[in-house]
Amino acid sequence: MDQKHYSIEHITGDHEHEPVVNHSGNRPFQSVLSARMERRTVMKGGVGAALASLMGVSALGLVGCSSDDDDDDSAEQPGDGGSGGSVTLGFEAVMPSTANEVVVPAGYTATVFLPWGTPITGSYPEFQPDGTNTGAQQEEQVGMHHDGMTFYPIDVKTGGNSSEEGLLVMNHEYIDIDALHQNGPTVDAGVRTVTDEVRKEIAAHGVSVCHIRKTDGVWDLVFGSEYNRRITGATEMDIRGPLRGHDKLVTAFSNDATATRGTLNNCSMGPTPWNTYLAAEENWHGYFKNDDTPLPREHARHGIGTGTRYAWETATGGTNGEYERFNATSIEASADLDYRHEPNTYGYMVEIDPFAPESRPKKRTALGRFGHEGVIFAPATEGEPVVCYSGDDSRFEYIYKFVSAQPYHADTASGDLLDEGTLYVARFNEDGTGDWLALSLDDADFVSAMNAAVGTQVGDIQFDTPFADQGEVLLNTRLAADIMGATPMDRPEWGAVDPNTGEVYFTLTNNTQRTEDQVNAANPNANNETGHIIRWSEDGGDYAATSFQWDIFVFAGVAGTETVVDGEAVVTLDESNIFNSPDGLWFDGSGRLWIQTDGSDAAPYQNNMMLAANPETREIKRFFVGPVGCEVTGVTSTPDQTSMFVGIQHPESWPAGSAAGHPRSSAVLVTKDDGGVIGA
Ligand code: FEO
Ligand code: CA
Ligand code: CA
Ligand code: CA
Repeated sequence: MDQKHYSIEHITGDHEHEPVVNHSGNRPFQSVLSARMERRTVMKGGVGAALASLMGVSALGLVGCSSDDDDDDSAEQPGDGGSGGSVTLGFEAVMPSTANEVVVPAGYTATVFLPWGTPITGSYPEFQPDGTNTGAQQEEQVGMHHDGMTFYPIDVKTGGNSSEEGLLVMNHEYIDIDALHQNGPTVDAGVRTVTDEVRKEIAAHGVSVCHIRKTDGVWDLVFGSEYNRRITGATEMDIRGPLRGHDKLVTAFSNDATATRGTLNNCSMGPTPWNTYLAAEENWHGYFKNDDTPLPREHARHGIGTGTRYAWETATGGTNGEYERFNATSIEASADLDYRHEPNTYGYMVEIDPFAPESRPKKRTALGRFGHEGVIFAPATEGEPVVCYSGDDSRFEYIYKFVSAQPYHADTASGDLLDEGTLYVARFNEDGTGDWLALSLDDADFVSAMNAAVGTQVGDIQFDTPFADQGEVLLNTRLAADIMGATPMDRPEWGAVDPNTGEVYFTLTNNTQRTEDQVNAANPNANNETGHIIRWSEDGGDYAATSFQWDIFVFAGVAGTETVVDGEAVVTLDESNIFNSPDGLWFDGSGRLWIQTDGSDAAPYQNNMMLAANPETREIKRFFVGPVGCEVTGVTSTPDQTSMFVGIQHPESWPAGSAAGHPRSSAVLVTKDDGGVIGA
């Protein structure tokens, strides 16, 4: 998420939703100078942003002297018709736009689809554009602030691949609290005095499962379908994996630490090889407060403080501490009587089976507890472990990989495979190699590093007590990664796996707080305002390998920004493809890489956008520009790639027809007028 559009800041003063909470100072190599000498991929612009970066000058300051006449790169100009790669980008690039509408290439059409408030279940309550729907009604309508999404063909469980009917599952990351209510939130001396407003806010978060069907060429919701479902910040769910039953997850709601309520700040997601949906819990810390001193390390390392984003904990009513649970202060005599551990039930990947509408979502704790942006699975191979990757989107946080203990068998595979396995964190070495460092008490290196850290200061945390069990390691995933010397990244957002080569790509959206003495080869720019995309190949082509080879795919930036590999510019950005703050990332079935942005929407970039890239040639073309004020996030398509769904989050005053002050986040359906493959 971007840090804009949180207008309840006047209540809480909490507008730093992605705080720097990693002060561990991890830097795998001490010699910064030699690191710079050895880096293979650098960013240049005109006279050389890499040099400028070394001198502490922003690359953006070089706009005026950039030169884009260096055309020996492989990025094709619009209309060149591709450059020989197996993937085509056969559309005319869209130019930067300030229009308050979605712009797509000639020959394409974009249509608003399932915006916030669309009734999808229960009594199908009609949407009230002025914000007057109740909390109970919101629980039966599409949530706000669309983000990651996946289309599941309706017949996929029986081996089909329908492109005419399916389940579109969508995350709703957070809310525009002013747009949600008729006159914004009611707050009296910091207290939320209208409980139904809070109920509605919690209901506007979460996930929507929407059964959709194309009839006579027109997509629509299947009214009355048993699959249509809302999962919200209040839905009961199970704790699974090593933290199930753990002492530190005991609450007044679940004395045996097997359950919790709700999922929040669901940013991106990942479809599993067995056709369920994992929703990520990203900036969940901001919903909780804790007045205890000192804070437990599992709260401090995540930035939990004494205020909350929406002050839900001040609401009264509800059942069994429904609102009080957002206050994690130790109030009663013991943990089974209060909600001191409630934040320990957040920070996970949450599995939802969209084909089982009565099923309880499951928090898969073996995948770690941090600010999960999303998750991306490697292709599953019969008899091999299941492997997935997840980034922790805060400044200087890490990229993780999970490898299941049990092998994948298509006939029997389920989310239970995610309850047992090894969580690794990435170290990107300066020479282009990388290592996956196990975060496991079964790993001798981990135990050794942990024991060596006892009694020392790890970042801001005084590490006096070793992790007692694997549950504690996972509860403190970030701290465990600090101890192992993982590489602090420039805010890892989405990942994607190239279906043709198996390479894994991740966006590193930006990090303006990285200083010159904090750069490393994988994050080579101080004051990284525009971000970059990194990629790697696992050694031996084995996703479960513990080492890999990496490089930087592209640096984002202004026209003239060059991505230079071994002295040669392999991409030079121009008006057809300048972008900043890459965030959403997705490979379509052909191997086209789609890049979405959540960055500066000022000149020269203008409104946030989605681009398509050829991963082989690094040709990049802008395909889609969103309306004013939005971020473009979330993309999926039907198997035949003729219907694409794209998320528009926090638009300023869109779509047309919205009531004044009540913009609507929405999915957008993109089709090609000739019915062809999107982007081809
Ligand atoms: Fe929710 Fe990191 O974007
Ligand atoms: Ca967002
Ligand atoms: Ca972002
Ligand atoms: Ca994001």
